[in-house]
Amino acid sequence: MTYTMQQYEESAQAIRARLNGFVPKVAMVLGSGLGFLGDQVENPIAIDYHHIPHFKASTAPGHKGRLVCGMLDGQAVAVMQGRMHHYEGYSYEEVSYAVRVLRLLGCDTLVVTNAAGCVRQDWHAGELMLITDQIKMFSPSPLRGENLPQFGPRFPDASHLYSPRLQQLAREAARDLGLTLREGVYFYCYGPQYETPAEIRAARILGGDAVGMSTAPEVIVAAHCGMEVLGLTLLSNMAAGILDQPLSEQEVLDAAEAARETFSGLVRACLPKL
Ligand code: 6GU
Repeated sequence: MTYTMQQYEESAQAIRARLNGFVPKVAMVLGSGLGFLGDQVENPIAIDYHHIPHFKASTAPGHKGRLVCGMLDGQAVAVMQGRMHHYEGYSYEEVSYAVRVLRLLGCDTLVVTNAAGCVRQDWHAGELMLITDQIKMFSPSPLRGENLPQFGPRFPDASHLYSPRLQQLAREAARDLGLTLREGVYFYCYGPQYETPAEIRAARILGGDAVGMSTAPEVIVAAHCGMEVLGLTLLSNMAAGILDQPLSEQEVLDAAEAARETFSGLVRACLPKL
């Protein structure tokens, strides 16, 4: 299915109608374990996804499925508490639909967070990573299908999907907090099974530092429509074969819970600087 401009406009209009003139500037997509940041928004206006025309439900564990608009650390934000993933059965276009809607509402910045597996022997579970680039070359683009030129060109440049300016802000924020912030490439794998050890070796050889099942589609769409993107990853666990132990969803959620304060602290330290 291909969405039409009219559908994007309908979704944006339905949200706008509830915002009493509030115009969000920073869109945030919160991954596993960080959803609670949406509860810290001041003067929040929360809208369930199923009250927004054309929005899909978010079925992943720990993803609430609502949009929270309001102020956070001095920024007018629109927070997606819960994202859609390809493994839930959604197309890449569906997964990234909301990003374009938030663009139409006025957002010019996208902050994306996720929990991902660590592919490097020399890093540790629980560390945070600034995403400097991504690899999503083995699955179709969310921009596949008719191009809507109102959003961007047919063949967009992808040299700087993650804004160098925002990367620098995040480095400074981490330094001010005294946090170690790793930097690396997010290697997208569509899941829902975690990777095999052989796939992880391949991802490492190809240049990946972290593996995850989200983020990359939304970032392609955001950069296409001219948004500046900041991506932050919690390395929730070592990827398959790095340690000789099986992975579980519970491990990922527990790690996210354990890193809650540092991870949200970093995100919140970045916000006033955007
Ligand atoms: Cl090891 N792989 C993927 N694809 N996603 C993850 C992960 C691993 N750990 C957390 N999220």
